[in-house]
Amino acid sequence: MLGRAAVEAFRGRFEIHPASLDEPDIRDAALVAGEIRRARPAYVLHLAAMTDVDACELDPEAARLVNVEGTRNVALAARECGAAMVYIGTGMVYDGRKDTPYVETDPRSPVNEYGRSKLAGELVVKELVPRHFVFYACWLFGGGAEDKKFVAKLVERARRGGDLPVVNDKFGSPTYTRDLARAIRDFIGSGLYGTYHCANAGCASRFEMAEEIVRAAGIADCRPVPISSDAYPLPAPRPRMEALRNMRFEQLGMRPMRDWREALDEYVRTTFR
Ligand SMILES: NC(=O)c1ccc[n+]([C@@H]2O[C@H](COP(=O)([O-])OP(=O)(O)OC[C@H]3O[C@@H](n4cnc5c(N)ncnc54)[C@H](OP(=O)(O)O)[C@@H]3O)[C@@H](O)[C@H]2O)c1
Repeated sequence: MLGRAAVEAFRGRFEIHPASLDEPDIRDAALVAGEIRRARPAYVLHLAAMTDVDACELDPEAARLVNVEGTRNVALAARECGAAMVYIGTGMVYDGRKDTPYVETDPRSPVNEYGRSKLAGELVVKELVPRHFVFYACWLFGGGAEDKKFVAKLVERARRGGDLPVVNDKFGSPTYTRDLARAIRDFIGSGLYGTYHCANAGCASRFEMAEEIVRAAGIADCRPVPISSDAYPLPAPRPRMEALRNMRFEQLGMRPMRDWREALDEYVRTTFR
């Protein structure tokens, strides 16, 4: 999802070298090194990951092989070529017990295997590649015609009409992949390497997201109904709070990323109407 948005955002501003294979596997160190050597890039954007949170919980070794060892392969190859590296962190590395959005200085303490593997991958990047950017994202949306994630599933369900139960006791920062990709594109030339939260502004529950989606998609005969997450037990525990405040960008005096509602409205109107 983010990969496609990045190609779109970077096109025309950077020379993009997509992998030469249809399905390159980052678990294959030699293949990754070969791909990156061939391209001799200034930047390596590492956007591949095992992102199914419940699948990671059920098979932590598979999550480790992709999110930690795969990341190590990319980091070693980037270092060998002298490239700067971009890694995408996640709000799921926080324990979720805070009442307000997390800032970059908050301690990490993930509550599930996905969060643990993503944090371990982040530490590998920091250890191996001196010139790195870690951008933390949260609740990404933006798959467009190929969207199979929360927004597309919700639109499909809402079009059937009636009451639509949606969880209202977990909070995040819904973030448009287009906005994230553009923010990365515009920031990496700064040379200000480090770790940054990079989410659309604000904090929402899935229920609040659902209300916005139904409205923006123009679906009249569906009513989202707030429910507790206890009603939907899942293999992986989710933190109650994983919203992000872009404190480091604020400290640099940068223009804030737009509010999640505006970004989600644009995405839904242009994709599902
Ligand atoms: N989605 C979110 O809400 C969110 C939030 C915070 C951070 N992030 C991070 O943002 C980044 C991009 O996420 P996304 O939402 O764009 O995820 P995505 O749509 O699931 O894309 C991840 C991609 O990685 C590929 N991949 C998985 N295993 C691989 C392997 N062994 N070798 C090569 N490619 C592999 C997947 O290919 P297949 O489809 O073929 O498996 C998929 O194309 C990830 O680092 C993710 O952890 C995401």
